[in-house]
Amino acid sequence: MKENVDKAKLEDRCLIEPAIDVAKSLQKHKWEDELWKKVVERFKKHGRGPKDAKGKFDIAHTKASVAWAKILGNLENRSDSEIEILTVVMMLHDTGYDFLHREGFVKYGDEIDLKSKHIHSEESVVLANIWRKEIKGLKDLTDTEWGTAIELIRDHDDKRIFEQDNYTRGDGYHDLMPLVFAADTLGQIDVRSGVIPSFEGDNLRNYLDKQLQRRGDILQGDHARKVFSVLKEIIIEKYLKT
Ligand SMILES: [Fe+2]
Ligand SMILES: [Fe+2]
Repeated sequence: MKENVDKAKLEDRCLIEPAIDVAKSLQKHKWEDELWKKVVERFKKHGRGPKDAKGKFDIAHTKASVAWAKILGNLENRSDSEIEILTVVMMLHDTGYDFLHREGFVKYGDEIDLKSKHIHSEESVVLANIWRKEIKGLKDLTDTEWGTAIELIRDHDDKRIFEQDNYTRGDGYHDLMPLVFAADTLGQIDVRSGVIPSFEGDNLRNYLDKQLQRRGDILQGDHARKVFSVLKEIIIEKYLKT
C-alpha cells in the first residue's frame, strides 16, 4: 500500500539535502537489504576499474541512483509497482561494469569505446537473473514486472532509446526509461551524496564537464531537470572553477 508522501516537502528536501538521506523516508522493499549486500560484495570484488578502490565509486553511484529513482518515482506519482521496478533496476544496472575492464574493452582513464559500452548492461542482466532466483523477496515481482526491469537494465545506457521513432510514453517499458536515465544521471553527479569519481585534477574536471554536457541535454522531467541544475551549480563551484 502506497504511503502518503508529502510531495512538496520531498521536493524541497531533495534540492538541499543528500538524496540518500531524503530517500530514507521513502518505502523500503523487503528484498532491498539482501540484494544490496550482494551488490556491495560484487563491487568490492570487482570495482569499475583498477583505481576504483573497493568499488567506492560504484557503490556510491548505485546508492545515489536508487535514492533518486525512489524520489523521482514519488514526485511523478508513479505506482508502487513502478517504483519497485525502478528501485531494482537502479540497484542492479551497473553490476556488470567490471566486465568491460576484465575483457579489455576499456582501460581506466581511457574513453570507453561507445560501441562496446552496452556490454556492461548485458552482464548486469545476467547477474540480475541469477540473483532473482536466490533472493526470496525478488520472486514476488511478477514476470511482467521482472521482464520490464530486465529490459530497462539492458537499455539503461543506450541514449538512442530517446531518438527512436517508436519512442512513446505510455507503455510500461518506455514510460519508465526517462526515469531510469534521470536516476542514473543524477546518481553520477550527486557529489552531495558522496558520489565522487576516483579521477583527480584535470581528469576529474574533464569527466564532470562531459557528464554535465552529454546528459544534461537529453534529461527529461521537470523534477529531474531542477535537481540537475542545482547539482550542476555545486559541481561548477566546487570542482570546475579554476
Ligand atoms: Fe551503466
Ligand atoms: Fe550507472
